[in-house]
Amino acid sequence: MTIFVAQTKVDDGMNDNRTQIWTGDDLTDAEFSAITELLRERRQFDLGQYKDRCIRRRIAKRLRACEIADFNSYLNRLTLDSDELDTLLATISIHVSQFFRNPGTYQILEQKILPELIQQAQKEKRKKLTLWSAGCATGEEPYSLALLVDDLKSNDVDISVVATDISKPVLEIARKGIYDKGRLREVPPAAMLNYFVERDDGYQLIERIRQQVEFKHHNIMTAEEFPQVDLILCRNVMIYFTREEQEKILTRFASILPENGVLVLGRSETMTGVIRNYFKSEFPVERIYRRTAEPVKLSALVETA
Ligand SMILES: C[S@@+](CC[C@H](N)C(=O)[O-])C[C@H]1O[C@@H](n2cnc3c(N)ncnc32)[C@H](O)[C@@H]1O
Repeated sequence: MTIFVAQTKVDDGMNDNRTQIWTGDDLTDAEFSAITELLRERRQFDLGQYKDRCIRRRIAKRLRACEIADFNSYLNRLTLDSDELDTLLATISIHVSQFFRNPGTYQILEQKILPELIQQAQKEKRKKLTLWSAGCATGEEPYSLALLVDDLKSNDVDISVVATDISKPVLEIARKGIYDKGRLREVPPAAMLNYFVERDDGYQLIERIRQQVEFKHHNIMTAEEFPQVDLILCRNVMIYFTREEQEKILTRFASILPENGVLVLGRSETMTGVIRNYFKSEFPVERIYRRTAEPVKLSALVETA
């Protein structure tokens, strides 16, 4: 007996009683390419550098959510319905996050890394430091940084936080700064009291902190301009990219960080290959790296353009 049967093809692509359960492995290469093409053409989003299996599983998730058994119907829908195309993009670029995710990392940032960056700027008589959350999702990461900065209160050095993501819908959510309790689990009680206001739909970060983060749309895989920064948090983003793509991005990070600038990756992300010449590991468990003095090789950068 077959439990999961793809039933007859229908045209509207929605809500009939078909029972195909997509897993992702069942997408043919031609079907996968059709989606790749559409996202490239309409959203300038290149799936080529993402790990194939992750993407297939996420496409399957949308097919299941739309209750579509016939791939062509889904392709039709994607062509006609720009909301579904955005939803697919948001599903592919998964955006789970949390305030102070991996609290140990934030403790080190607060107690060691940020004070040191401030001291160095003071010594060099620089008035500004920029922190970049690349792949910021719904804002928990850059706002966590902004909370640390608010607490450090450096009078003579202005610290700004820039936050970027490829998904415009998640940036909209981020700008509002409203979160449910699950996302706030690691926020200390005193910070909850000082910085959040309870509302019917969750807890909103106070306006003063929201205004300290500048949210922008940006794709870290393209040759778009990278901001000049002193610290980069790029956590749980590159895990979905091929190793080749990761190396290109890390090379570009190295090219914009000054000597002693800081890079923080996700706890399950690692640095391999030539990139290790540009960074020394300072806190291995927390994946905190310092930029070395090694100049970035131009040939490595040309490939990324
Ligand atoms: C799992 S979230 C990580 C959020 C946060 N950094 C953290 O660790 O909690 C990954 C984010 O990376 C973003 N992303 C994926 N591909 C990207 C790209 N090419 N450029 C910029 N952001 C990207 C996704 O949209 C998503 O919001």
